[in-house]
Amino acid sequence: MTSARAGGKVILLGEHAVVYGVPALAAGIARGASVEATPSSEAHLVLGERRIAPGDDSDLGRALAALLAELGAPPLSLTLTLDLPAGCGLGASAAMGVALARAAAALSAEPRSESDVLSAAMAWERVFHGNPSGIDAAASASGGCIQFTRGAGIERVALARPLELVLAVAGPPASTRQMVESVARIKERRPEMFQKTLNGILSLVKNARLCLEAGDLPGLGQLMNLNQMLLSGLHVSTEAIERACQVARDAGALGAKLTGAGGGGCIVALADLDPEPVLGALRGAGFECFATQVRPEAEP
Ligand code: PMV
Repeated sequence: MTSARAGGKVILLGEHAVVYGVPALAAGIARGASVEATPSSEAHLVLGERRIAPGDDSDLGRALAALLAELGAPPLSLTLTLDLPAGCGLGASAAMGVALARAAAALSAEPRSESDVLSAAMAWERVFHGNPSGIDAAASASGGCIQFTRGAGIERVALARPLELVLAVAGPPASTRQMVESVARIKERRPEMFQKTLNGILSLVKNARLCLEAGDLPGLGQLMNLNQMLLSGLHVSTEAIERACQVARDAGALGAKLTGAGGGGCIVALADLDPEPVLGALRGAGFECFATQVRPEAEP
């Protein structure tokens, strides 16, 4: 038997623009997915009450078949548990894909590399998201803080200070695929406005990377707020997202924005040292939330 784990992710800046080649900043988070795997006569996945076989007529069945085929894995019994809300922009499906690929790679006859694991997780992700940029699987597989560029992969970002983040669920899960398609329609209808938005997000991301490397958290927070305004212009924000961001800012968060595809799902707020006041205010306003810390690489 073998066990494997992978964390979820939070996009700090640059979602949606990343689909069009703009770099985005993301970080791995501790909550994620765990898998226990044992060789078996028939490949199957157990997730809560469900038992899924590769190739079942469901997204999970198709994704499992794609992942196992990519790794040429032997038949395995895989039991998956998730300690992350799903469909909320925190990379739950990528964490599941990376954890499953790690477990299957560990039990494969041939030695498998991290890049094989990432390719298998991407095959899994494509079933759920159509044409993902790859940021979710990359951030989940690498952990830490990264800059991700479609086609070019990841660069590690050296954080000068830990990030105290608060993640709050601001609406029912939204479909990443539908949100990405709705942004693509805006690009078709208003190409000039869309290009200006991409340019704006690019400059926010470049400056945010400098803030992360210099430990300028108030600067980073302001850039997150500006990114939220540009995302609202792409119609991926909602009333609940705007309200949650405002509650977090009023409670002392340095910045807040939606994270992931939007249309519902989670917001990320950057707390100033102590996340408790932000957590308390969001809970008081009825939002389910939790805190997570992103540490500089060298820290234990
Ligand atoms: O999977 P989500 O909801 O975290 O969204 C991923 C980020 C997007 O930029 C909206 C899509 C993508 O493939 O990069």
